[in-house]
Amino acid sequence: MSGNKVNHHLFIRENKPVSFSEQTLDKIRQLVKRYPEGQQKSAVLPVLHIAQQENGGYLSVDMMDYVASLLELKPIEVYEVASFYSMFFLEKTGRYVIEVCQTAPCAFCGGDDLMEYLEEKLGVKNGETTSDGLFTLRGVECLGGCGNAPVMQVNTAFNEFMTKEKVDRLIHELKEEAGKGLISGTKWEEEFS
Ligand code: FES
Repeated sequence: MSGNKVNHHLFIRENKPVSFSEQTLDKIRQLVKRYPEGQQKSAVLPVLHIAQQENGGYLSVDMMDYVASLLELKPIEVYEVASFYSMFFLEKTGRYVIEVCQTAPCAFCGGDDLMEYLEEKLGVKNGETTSDGLFTLRGVECLGGCGNAPVMQVNTAFNEFMTKEKVDRLIHELKEEAGKGLISGTKWEEEFS
């Protein structure tokens, strides 16, 4: 996924010391070893995934600088990658990140209406997080399921042929799930689609 439509800003410098555990560093060394000598730059995507996970779901400037130092890259090279791919978040997100595909096939099949509906239902605009910290809403480019438009993704769960009714059930289900302290976002589709 790339070409994120959300306007990210690289403003989250927390000035906190950032470091990985020896175990994580070892995982990164293994990743780097997969690439030819001097090509450690190629490991930047998987390393950023690890960094995002370790950093509570987003990449602060401090964390990106740390990744740059580990891979012997210029910080700007890491910023460029992190800001290009929509799977990386440059600011804190809600517990559930709802991504609505806004590319033409989905837009023509109701994707734009879904985005409007979600904005209204959640009381946030594209790119924003609800005040309870539960949902971040964002429009993204093609999610790769064009034949089953309109498509939206919630965390890692793919939801196809979406309708307003399905959105209602999904939001209800996720709120219930969050209320019970469960962590998921992946089981909804199996149950309701
Ligand atoms: S256009 Fe929406 S998934 Fe491809």
